Amino acid sequence: MAKKTLADLPANLKGSKVLVRVDFNVPHTSQGEISNDRRIRGALSTIQKLLDSGAAVIAMSHFGRPKGDPQQDRPFTMDKIAKRLGELLGKPVQKANDSAGDDATKLAANLKSGEVLLLENLRFHKGEQGSCPLYATKIAALGDIYVNDAFGTCHRKDASMVALPEAMQGKPRVVGTLVAKELEILNTLLSRPGRPFVALLGGGKVSDKIGFIKALLNQVDKIMVGGAMTYTFLKAQGIGIGASRCESDKLDVASEILSLGKGKIELPVDHLIVSALDAPQTAKVVEGDIPEGWIGIDIGPKTISKYEAIIASAKTVVWNGPMGKFEDEPYSQGTRRIAMAMTKSQAITVVGGGETAEAVEAFGLDEKMSHVSTGGGAFLEYVEGTPFAALAQIEDK
Ligand code: 3PG
Repeated sequence: MAKKTLADLPANLKGSKVLVRVDFNVPHTSQGEISNDRRIRGALSTIQKLLDSGAAVIAMSHFGRPKGDPQQDRPFTMDKIAKRLGELLGKPVQKANDSAGDDATKLAANLKSGEVLLLENLRFHKGEQGSCPLYATKIAALGDIYVNDAFGTCHRKDASMVALPEAMQGKPRVVGTLVAKELEILNTLLSRPGRPFVALLGGGKVSDKIGFIKALLNQVDKIMVGGAMTYTFLKAQGIGIGASRCESDKLDVASEILSLGKGKIELPVDHLIVSALDAPQTAKVVEGDIPEGWIGIDIGPKTISKYEAIIASAKTVVWNGPMGKFEDEPYSQGTRRIAMAMTKSQAITVVGGGETAEAVEAFGLDEKMSHVSTGGGAFLEYVEGTPFAALAQIEDK
């Protein structure tokens, strides 16, 4: 069922205070410095539209995984994010020192039409991940309208995602522009994909993506595997993987997936290997067994060509997980060439969030994809078909 969007709100929101749950859980350094602001930029359209309608916006998000120790959690305060949001919006953003306490209440009460307030990191309050209704009720009292524009968090049951819209029953509860676009693209992709429909799967662990792979096997015509998960699949087939990364306790799962996906799953036919992660000068390409002590670090040139050809003849391509250790230039070729092949194809190209999104952005190719999702875990779970309690709280059209 389609969800109500900003278009279903009154055109004039003067006098309204709109609570907007965004996902500002941005990639960051250990000191909490923003290393990529894509998720903040992704929320601008919704915030700007609401401001243009005359609303006052109270934005809120979690950031990182705070431990409950104020000293240790200091890097995860929202100050830097409020500053960055202000720069991007071109206007000051007020920042509350709490999310449901006196400061938030006072600042929200005084917020005027066209102004923006960002609450403190929701996960500084234990009610957020505890899905606490009382905490949600306190935040609910700050606003008149609820907007979910946090696709990246839609798979979580945190208070701001579920209990808060629940506490606002009877008031408008809609999705923002970013969530609406994600849902439209993913729903089209899953219900009527152009065929051949192919997927690229990379990244470190098979175990993180078991449900995703099984769901994809029912939908796609082909799955091309890359990244470190390759070596778990190869080992499960008795192929030598040297000292490559491997989930030895998941060999049975890998075997099961390979037999379920017989004829659909493509594994790399050659590999870039090194004698040590920090020894790119030792890099060479092998086919078949990876020698003892050597580490697979990227897909090899034959694999790249094979995958490029599959992508070129596809009508829909979904990609989740880098093909190799792309963040190190000498090992980035597989991921880069796959990204380029996607941009050259006529297919609908959809990139899952997280590391894959960071890779295509680092190569400057994100704008050339049909869609780059802001969801990492949420993207995987949505494609798997997991129902999201957060979306159930949003009014149907
Ligand atoms: C994400 O980055 O996947 C979302 O912001 C959710 O964060 P979490 O995995 O810490 O719940």
